[in-house]
This record gives sequence, structure tokens and C-alpha cells, in this order.
Amino acid sequence: MKIGILGSGTVGRSLAQGFQGKGYEVLIGTRDPEKEELKAWKAAGGHIASPSETAQSADVAILATAWSGAKPVIDLAGKDAFSGKLLIDVTNPLEFGQSGPELSVGFSASAGETVQSWLPEARVVKCWNIITAAFMCDGSYEGGRLDMFIAGNDETAKKQVAGFLDEFQWNCHDLGGIDQSRILEPFAMLWIRYGVKNQIWNHAFKMVRK
Ligand SMILES: NC(=O)c1ccc[n+]([C@@H]2O[C@H](COP(=O)([O-])OP(=O)(O)OC[C@H]3O[C@@H](n4cnc5c(N)ncnc54)[C@H](OP(=O)(O)O)[C@@H]3O)[C@@H](O)[C@H]2O)c1
Repeated sequence: MKIGILGSGTVGRSLAQGFQGKGYEVLIGTRDPEKEELKAWKAAGGHIASPSETAQSADVAILATAWSGAKPVIDLAGKDAFSGKLLIDVTNPLEFGQSGPELSVGFSASAGETVQSWLPEARVVKCWNIITAAFMCDGSYEGGRLDMFIAGNDETAKKQVAGFLDEFQWNCHDLGGIDQSRILEPFAMLWIRYGVKNQIWNHAFKMVRK
């Protein structure tokens, strides 16, 4: 199975390594194949391609761009490339104000729903937006598992994502349709705000039952 990752930032590279480590064929889609950040990936034999080639050849696509790059990269790839495919949306719709990162949409809209509306034929599942890139492919914690929440309209697509999460040692909790991104994106802000305020970046969510 080929995983095509759009965006070569911290998230894209971390997911690429994680999926490759599990034996998947991975392609990072980038606008700039010569960028410094991709040197280590390429030196280790990792594959890169244009966003369009990546989306077209992927069995499963992952949207791992800055929010400002989400629509541009989809335009570069072409809508048809995503038709019928699982597209995992890792983005948070952040803008950077004077007091740091803030959500640019919310309450009655979300990035997840927006991506789904741009790509009605894709099966969009929100996942991994509430954890730092470094831990996305490792949900293990003290002999147990951390918790990840997902949202999407397609049950089969969510089952596939649940399978990936299981491989990466996460507990998976399905919140419902892609509109539940309205909950998951502010939830990411809780993670971000805690990090900014305390300058701690290794925190993660774990549910307990009392
Ligand atoms: N960093 C984290 O720990 C973390 C955790 C959870 C969720 N997220 C979310 O995951 C996403 C990726 O995070 P990141 O930290 O990896 O982001 P990033 O470094 O800011 O950007 C990732 C990639 O987006 C692509 N991009 C940016 N502008 C673009 C444009 N106009 N057109 C096409 N592509 C564009 C670039 O890829 P190319 O230059 O290769 O084309 C860039 O490397 C963000 O939405 C973020 O909010 C991040």
C-alpha cells in the first residue's frame, strides 16, 4: 500500500518515517524537492515527488500542510487524484496573531469539513491533529496506550485509520462525522496553548475512567 504525504514539514517527515518503518511504501509530495529538510529523507532512500504525482499514485493520502497551503496543494494535485481515496487530514487551521497561534475557523465550521467540501469524492478522516509530530507514530505510554480521536463521514475509511492507529500503538476513539473536527481543532488549541504557556512540548492526552 502506498502512502502519499502532502507537505514535507515536521509532520509530513515524521509520518513518512513512521509509515515507512511499518513497511509501507511512502512518497512525500513537495513543491521543492531540493529543500534542506528533505536531505536526510532522500539520503536514507526515501522517495519524493510532486504533490500531483504523490496524490495520484497514493492509495492513501495524508494532508500535512500548513493550513494556508491546504487548498493550494489540493489545487496543485488536482481534485480527481483524491476521488474515492482515504485522505487523512492532520491540519489545524492556525493563524499567528500577536499572542501566538489561534484558530482561524471554528464554532460553526472547521478545517476538516472545509477539506471534505473541497473534495466531496474523497473520504476525509481527521486524525493526529491533537498531538506533536514526534509522537504521531508512537502512541505507547508506560506499558499502555495514549488516546487519539478521529472524525469522518465514511465508516470504512475510519476503520482503516483505526487500523493505522493500532499499528502505531494508539487507542482510537471515533467521535462521529467530519463535523466533529469542530471539536478536534479547538482540542488541538488546548494542546498548543499548554505548550506555549509552559514551554513543554511532550504532553499528550490520555483518558481515564474514575
Ligand atoms: N507540528 C506539529 O507538531 C503538528 C501537530 C499536529 C498538527 N499539525 C498540523 O499539521 C500541519 C503540518 O504541520 P507542520 O508543522 O509540518 O507544518 P509546516 O512545516 O508549517 O508546513 C508543512 C508543509 O506545508 C507545505 N506548504 C506550506 N505552504 C504551502 C502552499 N502555499 N502550497 C502548498 N504547500 C504548502 C510545505 O510543504 P512543501 O514545501 O514540501 O511543499 C510545508 O513544508 C499543519 O496544519 C499543523 O497545524 C502540526
